Amino acid sequence: MYTQAMDLAPKEERKTVRSAEEAALEQRFEARIDEGAFIEAKDWMPDHYRKTLVRQISQHAHSEIVGMLPEGNWVTRAPTLKRKAILLAKIQDEGGHGLYLYAAAETLGTSRDQLLEALHAGKAKYSSIFNYPTLSWADIGTIGWLVDGAAIMNQVPLTRCSYAPYARAMVRICREESFHQRQGFDSLLVMMREGTDAQRAMVQDAVNRWWWPSLMMFGPPDGESVHGAQSARWGIKRISNDDLRQKFIDATADQAKVLGVRLPDPLLKWNEERGHHDFGPIDWSEFWRVVGGHGPCNKERLAARVKAWDDGQWVRDAALAHARKQATKEQAA
Ligand SMILES: [Fe+2]
Ligand SMILES: [Fe+2]
Repeated sequence: MYTQAMDLAPKEERKTVRSAEEAALEQRFEARIDEGAFIEAKDWMPDHYRKTLVRQISQHAHSEIVGMLPEGNWVTRAPTLKRKAILLAKIQDEGGHGLYLYAAAETLGTSRDQLLEALHAGKAKYSSIFNYPTLSWADIGTIGWLVDGAAIMNQVPLTRCSYAPYARAMVRICREESFHQRQGFDSLLVMMREGTDAQRAMVQDAVNRWWWPSLMMFGPPDGESVHGAQSARWGIKRISNDDLRQKFIDATADQAKVLGVRLPDPLLKWNEERGHHDFGPIDWSEFWRVVGGHGPCNKERLAARVKAWDDGQWVRDAALAHARKQATKEQAA
């Protein structure tokens, strides 16, 4: 993840009237942040810090869960048993990431039901990369290589996030994300090296479609990022959107050469002086269109999540009935 959406929520006003006691607590909190200390769930924290984290962690959790959908689309059509087993394991990992993250958000005093309700009502965001369709098998390898690759760039700095439960969840998640990136790269490499011309063309087509949306995963340019400065101050966001994007482009350009695919940007070129790749302009109007709900699959993704929730109602009801029965039995004993 998928943390792009953290920059997109409406601005919240900071409380201006504070008691002397609250001001002292906040001062202590800021001093701890400055020392690089981790904040635990039971520690005092300003309201705005709590809200920022709930928003970011829940958007991240939703992205993991919604992110299972485009890949799930190919489980029954994986070309070999080995690829099917890898894809199943990856999708299951993403489900696990969502659950760790909902649990981390719950430590901030919100409930999973509230978070899911916001997602199902269309109020909460998730990464807009998952609103694009998966048209061929090569999309699955490309998602692993580019989307999980971008996710790793975004997420590794979060292992040092000032909020400890989030940082701890990210350590586990990042280990699995690196497997996701490698399985995607490996799947593409096999097609590029041992495949037919048609398979190579399929890989190139998938890369053409996923390249620009992957760059958008880092969020809007730094100058337009609403929450960037405050999140940096609090040690929630340690590297800026533009710096992460540049890092991703530099790493990926070299990997594309190994694969033998062309990245669809005629302006992409190594700049000796900067020590980085230059790249062409990103179409931010497309980004805002997809974030605003008008991407190719926004409606389909949300409808699939709501249907899964509704279809699972009987399971939740049965689990609650079982728990009640157990409690009654224990009381009687
Ligand atoms: Fe994940
Ligand atoms: Fe992943």
